[in-house]
Amino acid sequence: MTTPYYSDDRAALYRGDALQVLAALPSGSVDAVVSDPPYSSGGMVRGDRMQGTHAKYVQSDSSARDNIAAFSGDNRDQRAYAYWSALWMGEALRTTKPGGIILAFTDWRQLPSTADAIQAGGWIWRGIVPWVKPNARPQSGRFTAQAEYVAWGSNGPLPVDYSAAVLPGFYQASPPREREHITQKPVDVMRSLVKICPEDGTVLDPFMGSGTTGVAAMLERRRFIGVEMVDDHAATAERRIREAQGQAVPRGDQDVLDLGATA
Ligand SMILES: C[S@@+](CC[C@H](N)C(=O)[O-])C[C@H]1O[C@@H](n2cnc3c(N)ncnc32)[C@H](O)[C@@H]1O
Repeated sequence: MTTPYYSDDRAALYRGDALQVLAALPSGSVDAVVSDPPYSSGGMVRGDRMQGTHAKYVQSDSSARDNIAAFSGDNRDQRAYAYWSALWMGEALRTTKPGGIILAFTDWRQLPSTADAIQAGGWIWRGIVPWVKPNARPQSGRFTAQAEYVAWGSNGPLPVDYSAAVLPGFYQASPPREREHITQKPVDVMRSLVKICPEDGTVLDPFMGSGTTGVAAMLERRRFIGVEMVDDHAATAERRIREAQGQAVPRGDQDVLDLGATA
């Protein structure tokens, strides 16, 4: 049985491959899969996609620090990406309660594959919620590539629940300036997205990176299960999620002030 590297009464965090961890989770145990998988994108041709994640996703004017760890799983070609997405989305369906939800971030290149994979994984395809970035760089002679997308689906019919949150049809927000992950998502966007899960329900993010989905789940009083393959990011996610719970967590060589010791 896979063991979490961190757990408390609201969060369980796993280090490893999402497919293996998902396979070990009990059936029907989560309410919503709120995911930001590697896009395997960042270029028009295969050669572009094979570059490292810094070259693909860090713009020269970006505030992302050079020393942020790269991340893995981002070099699949289009067909491999669609097959792999269908595999993990199928396993995610098994772990999700009937009427539960899947959300998956994607970009314009991978939107068709992501939409196909949601359906191949057995989910009912529900639509797309654009995330519009106001500070995108315009280029003459072409439309500004200014949006990423949240594709969504449900595990069977959606129950009609008039007490459930009313959610927007699009988001407008800049990527965070102080990032700890190259593709870190804005906490405010994630805080709204996790409301698709009922309060005290469980949100699963199989590709948590620096843990923004988990931070949002803690701030919005949801439970959280997260998976991450890269050790650096798994450590960042644990620290951010514990901080979001109000725990005092040491950062690097800084000790937590022990007020008891000086009293
Ligand atoms: C797009 S990033 C997520 C960023 C995150 N939303 C944030 O705000 O920090 C995707 C993450 O998935 C991880 N990853 C890639 N393949 C994986 C796999 N097979 N299993 C688990 N994690 C994986 C990468 O290392 C990366 O950190």
